[in-house]
Amino acid sequence: MSTATSPRFKNLQELYNAARICMPCPFGKTEKDHKVFGEGDPSALVMLIGEAPGAEEDRLKRPFVGRSGKLIDTLLHASGHVRSEVFITNVVKCRPPGNRTPLPNEITDNMKALLKEEIMLIKPKVICTLGSVATQIFFKEPIAISQVRGKPIRFINPNVVVIPTFHPAYVLRNQKAEILLSSDLKLAFELAENTQTEMSNSAL
Ligand code: URA
Repeated sequence: MSTATSPRFKNLQELYNAARICMPCPFGKTEKDHKVFGEGDPSALVMLIGEAPGAEEDRLKRPFVGRSGKLIDTLLHASGHVRSEVFITNVVKCRPPGNRTPLPNEITDNMKALLKEEIMLIKPKVICTLGSVATQIFFKEPIAISQVRGKPIRFINPNVVVIPTFHPAYVLRNQKAEILLSSDLKLAFELAENTQTEMSNSAL
């Protein structure tokens, strides 16, 4: 991610207007409105970051509205939360050909800068990275999701706690992992709420 420590844009609308097309596009996309940007509470305490939109997300131009998104909605509900409380976005904002996983060299500096701007504008307390593509963005060395899943890590720039967790598509194929994704989401809210309490105490 870039070294900038404050956002260059006033708000998400401005950011997304500026980011409609990126050139050159590693997937060869040239049409203006092909991107699926983030959505949710622009001052959310918890942010979820996925990999890239799938077919349904591409059709509706909204993140996590297919099967993976429905699982996230269900697990949020089960822990007493709703999707509108979080901000949800993807590392890659357009659907890779054939829905494949984006290759590391297809995740461009532009994409990383856009994601970092989203984080700096929203200022979440906690980010859950869903799957290895989103998790890897925060690490300099190659990382296996199994090594870091469920372990909160504080980063300085951007200043946020990251909880790596499984991608919901993986959980849909591996039912046993559902309890882990669910507990990681719960932990994200617990940490976000505790961090906020600490901050309001110190302001007194
Ligand atoms: N998978 C993702 O990583 N992102 C989406 O928006 C949908 C499915």
